[in-house]
Amino acid sequence: MTAPAPAPAETGAVRAADRDTAAAESTKESAQESVQEGTRESANPLIATTAEGHHRILTGDRPTGPLHLGHYFGTLRNRVELQSRGLELMIVIPDYQAITDRDRADHPAEHAENLVLDYLAAGVDPERATIFTHSAVPALNQLMLPFLSLVSVAELSRNPTVKDEIAHSRQSAVSGLMFTYPVHQAADILFCKADLVPVGQDQLPHLEVTRTIARRFNDRYTALFPEPQALLSRAPLLLGTDGGKMSKSRGNAIALGADEDETARLLRGAVTDPDRHIDYDPVNRPGVSNLLLLTALCQDRDPRAVAEEIGNGGAALLKRTATEAVNEYLRPLRARRAELAADRTVLREVLRTGNARANAVADRTLGEVRAAMGTF
Ligand code: TRP
Repeated sequence: MTAPAPAPAETGAVRAADRDTAAAESTKESAQESVQEGTRESANPLIATTAEGHHRILTGDRPTGPLHLGHYFGTLRNRVELQSRGLELMIVIPDYQAITDRDRADHPAEHAENLVLDYLAAGVDPERATIFTHSAVPALNQLMLPFLSLVSVAELSRNPTVKDEIAHSRQSAVSGLMFTYPVHQAADILFCKADLVPVGQDQLPHLEVTRTIARRFNDRYTALFPEPQALLSRAPLLLGTDGGKMSKSRGNAIALGADEDETARLLRGAVTDPDRHIDYDPVNRPGVSNLLLLTALCQDRDPRAVAEEIGNGGAALLKRTATEAVNEYLRPLRARRAELAADRTVLREVLRTGNARANAVADRTLGEVRAAMGTF
């Protein structure tokens, strides 16, 4: 990093390179070029450094259901791209998070294996990535204790993402685990000293907590932790078919592994508006614009160009267009997914190896934290 990044970096966020740059990966040189290309567009110095030096990426997805298009365009595509550029990738499957936003975790092991399935289908290389579960790494969870001492209750109560989670939670009362969730997430990120965190917009408040904890720990004890940066997809936030945040538990998401008929059914039910003339106007026409965006992401085009093509075709044509675009884009991924699903021992083996690696890293960090604090 040479200079402090402009505005978005105030929240620790940077924009990851686009899909056109992903297509250009394969050799280190072309990756380097596309990285610089990304830098020019986003005027962000971090991008320029991501192809050099050592960077550790940590990110994760809660094991409460299959991954959907929001995950894919929000972060998954970025992870695969960054890994293909040679960056080290760690993926946490936060199974304890499943008991933060609902009363109990239903089938956590099965969900975790299905996440591995989605990752591999999307192109994550299990030889190079470390994919692990919260519950298998005790030293990671142990870090929550010192970290909790570094944030105030007031800071925790104003976290907008936690507020939103609470509003949609399936619990009758807010649990302590829900309230302290961002601190748990800080442990996920800091146990392996990750410096880049590809996430969706909604996770930025959590990243801010992580950065605060890293800074305060370093100030109070010994400088151990990097202040990680969020890596945002350049794609604008994709909404669910009901216009809210795309989320499996809200029934408004298109799963990567959904079949073509289910995809069509979900998109037919998407919220739009009665104006037959289709144009891209995310503020005034969020439903229509979201379908345009989805189509554009799948076809690597500008949503305005898609709108122009549809013209006065109305919502019905827009939905048909979006359905075809999604199904076509996901066809190879879905075929790979079906092949991988045939042998679940492979999925379990990926988790076993990942958990062993994550434990080694977490034990080392916990040792350093104890030494820094002068505890045992
Ligand atoms: N909280 C994230 C979500 O709800 C998942 C997550 C857990 C995560 N730990 C993480 C994301 C660490 C990034 C880094 O989607």
